[in-house]
Amino acid sequence: MTKMIAPSILAADIMNLERDVKMAEKAGADLFHIDIMDGHFVPNMSFSPSVVAGMKRVTDKPLDVHMMLDNPDEYIKPVVEAGADTVLIHAESTPHIYRSIELIKSLGAKAGVVLNPGTSVEAVKNLFPIIDQILVMTVNPGFGGQKFIPGMIKKIQRLDQLRQTTSDDNFLIEVDGGINDSTIKLCSEAGTDIFVAGSYLFNGGTEADFANKVQLLKDSAAE
Ligand code: DX5
Ligand code: ZN
Repeated sequence: MTKMIAPSILAADIMNLERDVKMAEKAGADLFHIDIMDGHFVPNMSFSPSVVAGMKRVTDKPLDVHMMLDNPDEYIKPVVEAGADTVLIHAESTPHIYRSIELIKSLGAKAGVVLNPGTSVEAVKNLFPIIDQILVMTVNPGFGGQKFIPGMIKKIQRLDQLRQTTSDDNFLIEVDGGINDSTIKLCSEAGTDIFVAGSYLFNGGTEADFANKVQLLKDSAAE
């Protein structure tokens, strides 16, 4: 399966976001990851649907929207209307994750479910027939630049095994948090398809540095 790199714009230079998006496109980014945080579900605040709309104006790459909200259902329609291609909802953020996924699909977007480090794979098994993506958090959500949690590799392996033994195998596995040129190898071997990377890519280097890092991530994932 193709391995895809999703730069997380949380780590971009917000005052030069369009410049950074163009730089990432040129470097071979496959999609963009946008974090929406409410200061309640996670102890931080970040982007809103208007940022999704702004991103849609400057890139044709798919937009992967990670909802870190207490009441995700209220914002599904606004983010899809703003241009989200995939909407990712935390399993822990609603007692009705099945309903949230159905709502996303009914609006014509792809649907994903996100697992916090403490949440087991069993929480998503019943969603296999209807989901397009499962995002395994490899840090506690809320902040960029945190250290990768190695124990998450087993969770990815288990998900991939389950995927191989079910007929509902039509979903991609994604990771988010602490991804760099060494952690990406472990995640890729375990069965991950999409790799979100924030601070590793956007750390103030030159455009050439950025392009080299995207290539290094791709090469490491392909090994
Ligand atoms: C963290 C966010 C991530 C973040 C990843 O809660 O969901 O998308 O940008 O940042 P890095 O790659 O720096 O861990
Ligand atoms: Zn994220």
